[in-house]
Amino acid sequence: MSDPNYTNTKKRRYQYEPDGTDQSPHKLKALSTNNQQQPTLEEQTIVDKPSYSKIAKQVADHYNTRPQFGIEKRQESTIFHLRAFNNWIKSVLIGRHTDRNDKVLDMGCGKGGDLRKWQKVNIRELVGMDIAQVSVEQAQDRYEKMRNPGFKARFYSQDCYGRPLTDTIQPKDYKANIVSLQFCMHYAFETEVKVRQMLQNVSNHLEIGGRFVGTIPDCYWMVKKLRSLKGDQLEWSNSVYKVRFEQKSKYPVFGHKYWFTLKDALDDCPEYLVHFPTFIKLAREYGMELLYRTPSHQYYMETISTPQLNNLKGQNYRNLLFRMNVIDEMGRGPSPDEWEVTGLYLAFAFKKVRHWSSSEPSSL
Ligand SMILES: C[S@@+](CC[C@H](N)C(=O)[O-])C[C@H]1O[C@@H](n2cnc3c(N)ncnc32)[C@H](O)[C@@H]1O
Repeated sequence: MSDPNYTNTKKRRYQYEPDGTDQSPHKLKALSTNNQQQPTLEEQTIVDKPSYSKIAKQVADHYNTRPQFGIEKRQESTIFHLRAFNNWIKSVLIGRHTDRNDKVLDMGCGKGGDLRKWQKVNIRELVGMDIAQVSVEQAQDRYEKMRNPGFKARFYSQDCYGRPLTDTIQPKDYKANIVSLQFCMHYAFETEVKVRQMLQNVSNHLEIGGRFVGTIPDCYWMVKKLRSLKGDQLEWSNSVYKVRFEQKSKYPVFGHKYWFTLKDALDDCPEYLVHFPTFIKLAREYGMELLYRTPSHQYYMETISTPQLNNLKGQNYRNLLFRMNVIDEMGRGPSPDEWEVTGLYLAFAFKKVRHWSSSEPSSL
């Protein structure tokens, strides 16, 4: 597999500043410091309580109505190798940060597609949550059909970004060594309140020394692509995906919406850019420090070319590329169009280094 873009990955680091037109630092500060005029986290979530926000409902409906494909259908899909690559990235991320007997919290577990990955690293227990009720039922079913999973698991339908997890489970009853948000955390970036709620949920349920890991679209990659479009063009696509922005004159830190379509997976679903510097700053407030943020193509290159990583805990991630069908027995890997989509994502890992308290001043 070759990556024509990889040699440029370092140069691809792209600086963009939010212009603050919609959400000036001043306004953000007001929201962050419990100014009386602004809703507090609790007030906001109480208002949201009877139903999810419109966007959260739209996202849940998208995932609830996605058909579940069996293995044969998945193999026929035009994004077969893309899915395999994304699964491989998650396996490496999980393998690098999970120890035997760890407890896991998966906030956006979907249909339970990562259950075998957790089984492979011998976890003790897993709590999986997702806003899409149908996906949660499928995850539960998948777990029940596993032969000797080797770990306990339970699943809940829960909005993990718009609501406190204490709706469902108390930190005193479940603290994880690893909190995982795979291909889902960007939905929280609709508002600052949601990002804070998500981080509060992660931190409340994570042990000191524990890891917060995930995969999300890379904001630098997306903004670079958007800015390279001619004139007033706002969308780009290839045979497997399409991204459509609504405007390109403002770059707000939160609520920078685009619509994402992925063949055989998602059809025009609203998503949000994750402004990474803001994410780091806010995560620090909740007691978590960044270990790394690595674009997926770079993650792939580093993993297969670094012997220590490649054989971490007895896992050979290079061989795993074949076992997971990223490259099949005929030597075929992702098509150029699939490869472009794989480059859209990044992997991140944070470590919880200290307790946090809700009375601490905001950094924004
Ligand atoms: C692309 S899927 C990824 C699923 C799974 N993590 C995986 O990697 O296979 C995104 C998931 O995020 C979930 N999600 C979106 N917003 C959520 C929220 N507010 N709370 C919990 N889950 C959410 C969706 O329902 C969906 O299952």
